[in-house]
Amino acid sequence: MSVTMVLGSQWGDEAKGKIVDLLSQEAEIVARFNGGDNAGHTVINQFGTFKLRLTPNGFSNPKTICIIGPGVVVNLATLIAEIQMIRQAGLDVSERLWISPRCHVVMPYHPMVEAIYEMAKGNSSTGTTGRGMGPVYADKVSYNGIRLVDMVDEDGFGEKLKVQLQVKNALFKSFNLEPLDFQAVLQEKLDQYAQIKAMVRESFGLVQSSLQNNVAILLEGAQGSLLDNTWGTYPYCTASTTVSGGVTAGLGIAPKWINRVIGVAKAYTTRVGRGPMPTELNDAIGKVLQNEGKEFGTVTGRPRRCGWFDADLVAFTSKVNGFTEIALTKLDVLDTLSKIKIGVGYHTNGQKDGLAHYWEGDAHWLEEHEPEYVEVDGWMQSTKDVRQFEDLPPQAQAYVHRVEELVETPVTLV
Ligand code: IMO
Ligand code: MG
Repeated sequence: MSVTMVLGSQWGDEAKGKIVDLLSQEAEIVARFNGGDNAGHTVINQFGTFKLRLTPNGFSNPKTICIIGPGVVVNLATLIAEIQMIRQAGLDVSERLWISPRCHVVMPYHPMVEAIYEMAKGNSSTGTTGRGMGPVYADKVSYNGIRLVDMVDEDGFGEKLKVQLQVKNALFKSFNLEPLDFQAVLQEKLDQYAQIKAMVRESFGLVQSSLQNNVAILLEGAQGSLLDNTWGTYPYCTASTTVSGGVTAGLGIAPKWINRVIGVAKAYTTRVGRGPMPTELNDAIGKVLQNEGKEFGTVTGRPRRCGWFDADLVAFTSKVNGFTEIALTKLDVLDTLSKIKIGVGYHTNGQKDGLAHYWEGDAHWLEEHEPEYVEVDGWMQSTKDVRQFEDLPPQAQAYVHRVEELVETPVTLV
């Protein structure tokens, strides 16, 4: 059992960080393979509270190697600040951090381009985290990206930057925005690169020999499956591949090596940003979930939209990822509710025969469908201090079993 993936099964923020931190104590390698500093994990452990966006979660174990794989896009300022923050807590990750030279770099123009598109779209904007993810991945796939390896040769980097600024500045001018200064951007990026240069090293060889030697590798997914660029609620999604298959391109691990895929699911549903969310609650119960669950974004501070657990969605993400198990988080947020609903599929115009599934339509289709619910009894007592499944109130145990049945995947961690 050497390669374990931890993935978000909903719209992100499922508390993946907590699960990865738990499992990382036994992992020799923890690697990120997708996304960038749009991810936000709050990790609370014996060293303190860490709000991390890029650094893999093995940072607190001095024996663990942390890899930022080539599928990740890197905001250098964020990364440098995190390395410093970790150092201030008395830990040093720099010796153990490997950042692939293939990683694309978030440049100052990427968030600017993103802001222009978001503004132009108005009411149909995606509601991004504003970290430039869409434009940086767009530049990557259209051969206009700048990778860490491109910064080794200063002249070559300058040439690439010049081309990009020529195009991007023309856009900024047409939107009455201040164009970016070539020298200033060049110098800033070279200075930042110099600070992390020693950690820029290709991890492929290390990963492959680790696979051969049965070394425990933990793969830390960012975002959630419903934000996947292909299988998520496009265009209300993110720019990278967030599902399990993304690891092959994003880190260079063949599918045959993955033997454990843990889907992290909140006991209810949350979403930040725009887009359909069938089980959303805009009422007092939604407020209870938001307050009890402290549902405010790590990256943007935005309040998260809250609603009932949507089993149809997680049944889908379990299939698309091949979840071998579910880690169900934040069950105690439901402690005060007398009745709890679970979404089991969708219908339109009251037609409840033969419920429809998420994968049958697109984001617009989903918006036009109503969820169908089953209702179960709440447990109306605190479960915060419970540490054994058997010690949960019977209604809470029944809730977990109901989730297992509906998503057709065992829940192995609560
Ligand atoms: P973690 O790793 C929740 C959402 C944004 C927006 C959409 C696109 O903490 O689970 P982007 O900035 O990626 O272009 O925004 O995706 N989003 C997340 N939502 N958790 C995340 O990461 C997210 N990363 C992006 O809110 O709706
Ligand atoms: Mg988060």
